[in-house]
Order: sequence, then C-alpha cells, then structure tokens
Amino acid sequence: MALVPRKKKRKDPALSLVGDSPVGAVKFGEAGIFLVERRMGSSRRSFLTELARKKGFRVEEQMSESVTHVVSENNSGDEVLELLEKQNGICRTEFKAALVDITWFTESMGAGKPLQLENRHRLQDALKILAENAELSENEGRYLAFTRASSVLKSLPYNVTKMDDLKGIPNLGDHSRKVIEEILEGGTCNEVQNLIQNERYQTLMKFTSIFGVGVKTADKWFREGLRTLNELRASKIKFTKQQEAGLLYYEDLILPVTKVEADLIQQIIEEAVHRFLPSAVITLTGGFRRGKEYGHDVDFLITHREEGREEGLISKVISWMTAQGIILYDDTMDNSYHKWKNKESEIFDRFAKCFSIFKLQKMVHNLEPSGTCSHGSLATNETRGIRLAGHAGSSQHLTASAAKDKDWKAVRVDLVVVPFGQYAYALLGWTGSRLFERDLRRYAKHFGHMMLNSHSLFDNKQNKFLLAATEEEIFAHLGLDYIPPQERNA
Ligand code: CTP
Ligand code: MN
Ligand code: MN
Repeated sequence: MALVPRKKKRKDPALSLVGDSPVGAVKFGEAGIFLVERRMGSSRRSFLTELARKKGFRVEEQMSESVTHVVSENNSGDEVLELLEKQNGICRTEFKAALVDITWFTESMGAGKPLQLENRHRLQDALKILAENAELSENEGRYLAFTRASSVLKSLPYNVTKMDDLKGIPNLGDHSRKVIEEILEGGTCNEVQNLIQNERYQTLMKFTSIFGVGVKTADKWFREGLRTLNELRASKIKFTKQQEAGLLYYEDLILPVTKVEADLIQQIIEEAVHRFLPSAVITLTGGFRRGKEYGHDVDFLITHREEGREEGLISKVISWMTAQGIILYDDTMDNSYHKWKNKESEIFDRFAKCFSIFKLQKMVHNLEPSGTCSHGSLATNETRGIRLAGHAGSSQHLTASAAKDKDWKAVRVDLVVVPFGQYAYALLGWTGSRLFERDLRRYAKHFGHMMLNSHSLFDNKQNKFLLAATEEEIFAHLGLDYIPPQERNA
C-alpha cells in the first residue's frame, strides 16, 4: 500500500487529559488518532475508537490540528489526502499528520502504546513505490532491484538510522542507496514525492488494481484521457468478461482476504470436489501457505493419488458451484485449452485450472479486536460450518459490490487441478512468492543447468526429467537446503 508517513506534529499531552479514571483515561495524549471511515465502515470505526480509548489512546472524531496519526484501511495515501481535502478542507501541502496504515494501529493496540514510525517502514514504503512505478513502466530490471532492496530492509533485525547501518548489505543498488540516504537525511525522497503526485502513476495504480487489467491496457486508457473508475464505467470501452467482473466487484476485490475466509472457502471447495471425487486432496497454497495473514486471493491445488482420476474434474466442480450460486465469475481452462494457446508456456503452466470469483456469505457484525477478522467473519451453518451464498447475478451494472449492507463478499479464488506425479512441482510453483520462484528458476538454470517449472525439473546434463514426490526432494535435486514456505516471502 502506498501510504507515506509524514512528519509528526507534537501537541501538549496535558491538554488532552479527560479525567483520571483508570479505564478510558488518556495516557498517550501526544498521539492524536483520526480514523478514516471510508472502506473501514462506520461500525468498525466506532468499535476501533472504543477499543483505542479504553487503552488510553486519544482518538478524535474530527480531523483537526491536534491529529498526529491519520489511520486508514485499504486506501492509498493519495485517496486519504483527497478525502481530507474534500470533507475537511485540509490542504495537502499544509498537512502535518502522519498517514498510517491500519497495521500501525493494530500493532500499537497490541503493544499497548503508540509505536514510533520507524525509518525502516518509511524506507520500505518509498522503495515499494519506486518498484511499482518501474512495473508500470514495464522496466523489469528496476522493478526487481527496488523489490529486492525493499525486502532486504524488511529482513533487517534492526532499525536503520544512518548509511553506515547498511554497510556490506547485499542487494542494495546505487539508486536504492541514494533514496535511503535522502530519506535518512530529510525524511522524504524527492523522486518518490513527485511520483505520488504524478497523474499517470496514480491512474495506472488505480486501473491495474482492477482484476483483468494489465499495464498495457491501463496505459491505453490513461492515454485516452480516462482517469477514474466511474469514467471507465461510463465510457464506451468494450471490456473483456474478466474486466467487467473486475469493475463489478471492484470494492470487494481490493479488500484483503483473511485466513479465516480462506479456510472457509477451502471447506466449500472440499464439499464440492468430494461430490465428484471423494478422496481428492485440496491444498491451500500461494501466500497463505507462506504463512501470510492476508492475501489478494486464495490459491488451491487439487489432486488425487490415482493419477488420471482428476481428469475432467474442474468443469464438473465449477458447473455445480455455479448452479449453487457460489460462483460470480469463472474462467475455466481444461488441458486441451492450453494445447493451442501456449505462447507463454515458459511463464504459465498447462494445468486444468479456474480463475474465479466466489460469492462468500458474511456473518453480521462479528468484529474482532485483533484485526484478523477485519471485515466480519463468515456465516456458519450448524452442520458443516458453511453457508452457501444465494444465486449470483445483479441487476446493477458494474458496481455490484459497492452496495451497502450486502451480506456477501466477492473473493478471488484460483483453483489448479494437478496430476499426482507433478504435484510436488506444482506445489512449489504455486506457493510463491513470485520473486522466490523467479530466483529459484534462475538458480536452477545457471547453477544446475536444469529447467524448473510447475510441472517438472529437467536436467540438461543427464538429459532427463528428475522425479520428485515432495518439495524436499526438489530442493535436494537442486543441491539446496530445504527452504520452508514461511521463508519464501522474499
Ligand atoms: N502463479 C502461477 N501462474 C499463474 C498465477 C500464479 O504459477 N498464472 C504462481 C506464482 O508463482 C505465485 C503463486 O502462484 O507465486 C501465487 O500467486 P498469487 O496468488 O498471485 O500471489 P500470492 O503469493 O498468493 O500473493 P497474494 O496474497 O497477493 O495472492
Ligand atoms: Mn494468492
Ligand atoms: Mn493467485
């Protein structure tokens, strides 16, 4: 998320003390919190306000001079500034408070005190923004350089305060070092500040956050003068089916998916798959397998011990779930699809698969203080812990998930059906991260003279495929120590 912390403004803490009762007394008056309601929702905002006040934090109902931390959830920094300009007449050039993500809030609640905004967070944010921009300019080399630099900073066990702290640290290029130096000296980096004000950057970030929209399409729309989602929705553009779904469910799809939601989706899929193939195995993969709490989607592998039994499974499962009203969108491919459309076989695998959007029933007002169930948990049914959503379809054009009070959430789900013999390779390939996969494949090629993908490992020297039943065996083939999923985030 492109939130850029600004400089803090101090206020006399004594001014904010409101009585001395142990519960609700302001203990940390120097930090004034303002919670942005947009996307967070009013009930969650009241809940978080109450929680923070109980812990002695000063939470302001209105944006004012005494606010030091503006907390938002799933908003870009620019979006927040725009909102504050519109609703509170606050000019962005005179804005002094720090724009912080909800994670600062939940971490501070957990610590029982307002946490210092660490340089490390500032530096990481800046490098991420530069990486995003490189991606939007389709400059892969720069994208990788900034992404690596950012993940190096993330992995440092200490706070960076001076350039000497980075002596001898690999994967930090000259450009990244220059950015870090500028921020350590003056708090901000000119290049980054200019970028977040840049119209092309802002527009392309927004457009590429739509499911089905890549950089080329986003750039084309930008050059045609389009700037906002509403302009897109009102335009005469001929969208692909995927983009149409992306716009229709946009507000939901940009919300993070929680682990709780991922587990519920797994139960739904298990029920559907077992109708057709009782002993099929469904594995949660992608970011959640790496231990992440949140994801942009949920990824699953489906396999069966007896190879061949999985054939034709995907279309049956998707048809059944569609009939149940669980599927809002699907792009289902069987293996034959790939035979004549495999231009990009170097990058993409040829498994039968489905890129879908699920309709997930929400439970009404079940807000957890930990922030892990930030968007309300899902409904449970007395018998199986699942409640299936009603029939899909909306009369509203291109804004289905913006509707208030709807009792479901659209969630992106990837399903991949894998023949058992290739399962270990598919698991390794779909666990990610993308950067990890990239580095591992490159390592295999350059150091092992081997070709690794989600189907197999080919040894060029022995001129044969190397079989593997587990990820451990693949790492052994590559001559590497096993790296557990939790350590594959960078
Ligand atoms: N992947 C792939 N082929 C695709 C899409 C994804 O092989 N067509 C692999 C990628 O290598 C990636 C993994 O599947 O590492 C998961 O992809 P994705 O869901 O995009 O990312 P996550 O790491 O799960 O992160 P997020 O939480 O954002 O979903
Ligand atoms: Mn994923
Ligand atoms: Mn995915």
